[in-house]
Amino acid sequence: MDPEIEEKYKKSGKITAQARDYGASLIKEGASVLEVVSKIEDFILKKGGRIAFPVNIAIDDVAAHFTPTHNDKLVFEQGNLVKLDVGVHVDGYIGDSAITIEVGTRNWQDLIKASSDALDVAIEMMKPGVNLMLVGRAIEQTITSYGFKPINNLTGHSLEQYKLHAGISIPNVEEFTKGTVKEGDVLAIEPFSTNGGGRVKGFKKSNIYRFLKEQELKSAEAQRLQRVIKVNRKGLPFSERWCYRYTKKSTKVLQKLVSERAITMYPILKDVKNGMVAQTEHTVIITNDGAKIIT
Ligand code: CO
Repeated sequence: MDPEIEEKYKKSGKITAQARDYGASLIKEGASVLEVVSKIEDFILKKGGRIAFPVNIAIDDVAAHFTPTHNDKLVFEQGNLVKLDVGVHVDGYIGDSAITIEVGTRNWQDLIKASSDALDVAIEMMKPGVNLMLVGRAIEQTITSYGFKPINNLTGHSLEQYKLHAGISIPNVEEFTKGTVKEGDVLAIEPFSTNGGGRVKGFKKSNIYRFLKEQELKSAEAQRLQRVIKVNRKGLPFSERWCYRYTKKSTKVLQKLVSERAITMYPILKDVKNGMVAQTEHTVIITNDGAKIIT
């Protein structure tokens, strides 16, 4: 890997780890989800990083893709099982990491350990030439050894400049693929464990969007927001909260942009049987000596 690019990955990875750990310290009973997320995003900017995607908070049976709206009243409650997923970039080179925290209880420590052990096992076996089917098998075996299921339709993903999902998927179950790991690959590995159905389905609003294609729009306000999104995000996800800074009618204008296919919205992903879900994620760089964790 080009040393200059590697430096940028190391910097984004370091800020990602700091933001994740800082965020974890803020998640407490009664804390506002909006406030926690805003503090983490401010922290990232203060450290000299840019935000790769809105800070994701996924509670209980939600596995991924939720961020609060600009006026969200949601608070953390005792017993919540919270996935905190943070992404930072430096010049488009992304660090992506997640942890799971229980709010005030210790009911789900085994479920959390199942996903974090699975991540350790996957990282341990990563080196150039390794078949991704074997990685998926190892993740699946680790999680099932705890008596839980991996989520079979969520995967890890390769990263490239300004690309959050750059083509390679890292399965969390044994799944036929000829895909292998190569030197220089940057991979976000993220096993999800659950006591539910082991599969997620999309539900309504995540408040997270991504730019698709510039469209001819009649409304000047929609046109303006489309422009801002295109220039500022370079294809990376964004939230309604950020758009609210540009227009107080953010919800309505975003709806318009979705219906015109200028942008798309991610649905909230929940376990199909409403099981509890844990997630652990690191970003690694593949070298000839194995996987180097940058987050
Ligand atoms: Co992530």
